[in-house]
Amino acid sequence: MPSVKISASILNSDLSCLAGEVKKISDNGIEYVHVDVMDGEFVDNITYGSAVQKSFAPHTSAKLDTHLMVMHPQKQVKLFAEAGSDIITFHIESDCDADALIDEIHSLGVKAGVAVKPNTPVETVLPFIEKADMILVMTVEPGYGGQGFIPETLEKIRAVREAAEKQGRDIDIQVDGGINTETAKLVKEAGANVLVAGTFLFRAENMKAAADSMR
Ligand code: DX5
Ligand code: ZN
Repeated sequence: MPSVKISASILNSDLSCLAGEVKKISDNGIEYVHVDVMDGEFVDNITYGSAVQKSFAPHTSAKLDTHLMVMHPQKQVKLFAEAGSDIITFHIESDCDADALIDEIHSLGVKAGVAVKPNTPVETVLPFIEKADMILVMTVEPGYGGQGFIPETLEKIRAVREAAEKQGRDIDIQVDGGINTETAKLVKEAGANVLVAGTFLFRAENMKAAADSMR
């Protein structure tokens, strides 16, 4: 299994001070800034576009982990690649040709992730283990931070890790939603290695200690 990495979601950070918040992430030794892009169509909520990511990118040395919760991700990938994304993850439930989109993300020099919502069968993403760099198993219904972890998703994490091992693919498996010290233990045991946390990290007294407690 690949090494454990932490990705801090800025969704529940102080959005009026994003430069400072993303700097805080890298200052505390966290590998990724998790950028939750929502379009009001794929999910009800609307957050931020590539212009906002481009503006805060120079203020962090962490890699940018862009999570597209949008209906038409093919319209966004070039914009976010130009806005500094190191990895772009789109949803298998969105309106796109997943295979072609992975190729396009790779052609932009960016890693490609494929995400699956809690109620979507894990079989929908298994075919992409071969080509994608990361599979994101959502551990909450996408749309908002601060929700409760859905334990039924553990089985899906196990299924992705087993399929990857059968294919000899040491792929990253990301989890996202309700991750803290306790749930981090469960998801790592199931095979996840990239742990997204928003509320847990930004509410912590000591962000570095909180992140290290997840590792
Ligand atoms: C939810 C987002 C998550 C969320 C995680 O749609 O994809 O990244 O911000 O937030 P917490 O860690 O607060 O559950
Ligand atoms: Zn996310």
